[in-house]
Amino acid sequence: MVSKNILVLGGAGYIGSHTCKKLHAERFTPITIDNLSNGHQQSVQWGPFEQLDILETDKLATLMKQYNAQAVMHFAALIEVAESVKDPESFYKNNVLGTKSVLEAMNQAGVHHIVFSSTAAVYGQPADNNPLKEDASLSPINPYGETKLEAEKLIRAEANIKSVALRYFNACGADTNGDIGEMHYPESHLIPLVIQTALNMRDQINIFGTDYNTPDGTCVRDYVHVDDLADAHINALKYLINGGENVACNLGSSNGYSVQKIIESVKNITQENFKIVEEKRRTGDSAYLVADNARAKEILNWAPQKDLETIIEDAYHWHQSDTYKNFWEKISERKKELV
Ligand SMILES: NC(=O)c1ccc[n+]([C@@H]2O[C@H](COP(=O)([O-])OP(=O)(O)OC[C@H]3O[C@@H](n4cnc5c(N)ncnc54)[C@H](O)[C@@H]3O)[C@@H](O)[C@H]2O)c1
Repeated sequence: MVSKNILVLGGAGYIGSHTCKKLHAERFTPITIDNLSNGHQQSVQWGPFEQLDILETDKLATLMKQYNAQAVMHFAALIEVAESVKDPESFYKNNVLGTKSVLEAMNQAGVHHIVFSSTAAVYGQPADNNPLKEDASLSPINPYGETKLEAEKLIRAEANIKSVALRYFNACGADTNGDIGEMHYPESHLIPLVIQTALNMRDQINIFGTDYNTPDGTCVRDYVHVDDLADAHINALKYLINGGENVACNLGSSNGYSVQKIIESVKNITQENFKIVEEKRRTGDSAYLVADNARAKEILNWAPQKDLETIIEDAYHWHQSDTYKNFWEKISERKKELV
């Protein structure tokens, strides 16, 4: 019988854990491998957990054999752009050498399929305000984006491994049933930051730049619900199992929303008022980053189902949950200790 076991590297993290839930619903068994550097063991609820660093190649290969893995989903990475600028070596080691190690382990164990978490950051700063196709110029502008692009190239160069690289735009939202959600520290994503401000966990929300060439002057991004991302992983897995060739696909809604629009939407949904501060532009922010998702529609038969309102509602409920509040309290204690 063909194995239904899927090794999910980084499965204790935000997007990985939502994908594990979906894999389980689709009758696969997700085996989470995570070093818990940024993940949470309590988010591993739909299959076995093995605590391991992906840099441990031989142990990783042993687990792939032990579980007779049919495929690998590779979410394990350091993700915080600002940290990547401060400490590019750690990002290179974790994201590039980590991926090299994963590929070596797959070759040792004879696993031939991988779905890789890539990012819109591989495109860098596009010159115009048009939705991005996958053949747009690949020119990351920070070490995080560089390491993800490098990892994509390493994966594609493997002769015995077929891959789908999924280039997510802005991942957001939370499990609609409230089982899991985003627990990042530091948090740098706009929607959780605005929700935290609405919930009085932050004093204010900053808008960086109000003079961009966009309809209201603030940056425009493409927001995609984490459950929709999880669906795309299932489709990518089935595509590979059915003999699909190497491909990279953008995962976004193809709709752009400005920072101003996100703040207004959070205000409307939460019915809370809060302090907004207009700051100067930050270096490295593009005016407009929106996906053209036609290829994912065509090849993976995928289209996002959840709109901006659902994204914000689900994230708002999650941020009010006991799990999230406990996480935030622990983080706040840690911050006090560091002062
Ligand atoms: N969150 C986003 O908006 C977004 C956007 C584009 C791409 N991505 C990509 O999606 C993936 C998942 O992102 P996320 O938001 O879920 O991040 P996350 O930090 O919540 O999850 C990553 C998980 O990987 C684990 N990990 C990191 N290095 C590891 C290592 N060496 N060995 C074992 N485990 C390790 C962490 O402990 C964590 O649980 C990443 O590869 C990221 O680059 C995320």
